[in-house]
Amino acid sequence: MVNQFTHEPKRFGLLAHPAKHSLSPSMHNAAFDFYQLPYHYHAFDIPPEQLEEALRGFKLLGIKGFNVTVPHKERIMPFLDEISEEAKQIGAVNTVINKEGKLCGYNTDGEGYVHSLLKEINLDISQTKILLLGAGGAAKGIAIFLLKHGCRSIFITNRTSARAMQLIEQLKAYAMSLEIQVEFNQIPWEEAKNTCVNADLMINTTSVGLWPNVEDSPVSLEGLDLNNKVVSDIIYNPLETTILRQAKVAGAQIHTGVGMFVYQGALAFKLFTELDPPVEVMRQAVLKHLLSHQK
Ligand code: ATR
Repeated sequence: MVNQFTHEPKRFGLLAHPAKHSLSPSMHNAAFDFYQLPYHYHAFDIPPEQLEEALRGFKLLGIKGFNVTVPHKERIMPFLDEISEEAKQIGAVNTVINKEGKLCGYNTDGEGYVHSLLKEINLDISQTKILLLGAGGAAKGIAIFLLKHGCRSIFITNRTSARAMQLIEQLKAYAMSLEIQVEFNQIPWEEAKNTCVNADLMINTTSVGLWPNVEDSPVSLEGLDLNNKVVSDIIYNPLETTILRQAKVAGAQIHTGVGMFVYQGALAFKLFTELDPPVEVMRQAVLKHLLSHQK
């Protein structure tokens, strides 16, 4: 256990707009409490036009670290003093550390996803055919870390096919830089349902099914046999999305979005404190909040 008297009070936070429904304060404050640290994590609602000013304020106030979410993940990059190679590769930042007045950006989203997948589902990524639904920022971060962890076959489908094509080109360049051979395929959006029976793992990275549109699903899985398959969703509100509900009925194993949220937070906590993140404490704080709001 950490001795609280050897630690100075420190402030951390979330930079978002809107910010009031965020679960990050509950999750990080629970982790600080676990170690009895005199730290506090606060949600800051900052509109995009005040981002630069807010960052100056954070430096002045000595905020030690913060997470970044919608709509700031990309637009914060020009205002940072240093950016990790991975965050540059992904083109977005979700965690910033204030190192004596220097703001240093990182991205823990994709790595958080893969950590949670490997922790919760027993699979060998190098032998897994993966179908990604969506080709936005989240898809890119996840795909990069799947490649790093040995994935050699990715199918991508997106409503806007040009974006899927662009993501595949970016991933091909990344695979070349790692000197690895990867099979990439673009699938027409209308073909997603037929393709998921050929994939071992399907990951929804789109925002379809997110609260309050909880009845929506990016692809209908009704009538399919998905035995021995895994269906994963990065949405964690609701806890069980329509696509996951249908996946269960079709016989698939499911992986919910809570794990990604918790592990991106755990990796950020490690950057904030250099301590081992109390992952289960963080998960329970998130679940408690989500369950109390879903009653
Ligand atoms: P994020 O950073 O969360 O990935 P994003 O970059 O805006 O956010 O990407 C959102 C993803 O959800 C995209 O793949 C988007 O598809 P388009 O590229 O066609 O816009 C997908 N998406 C959002 N709403 C959708 C809908 N109603 N049907 C299908 N896909 C949708």
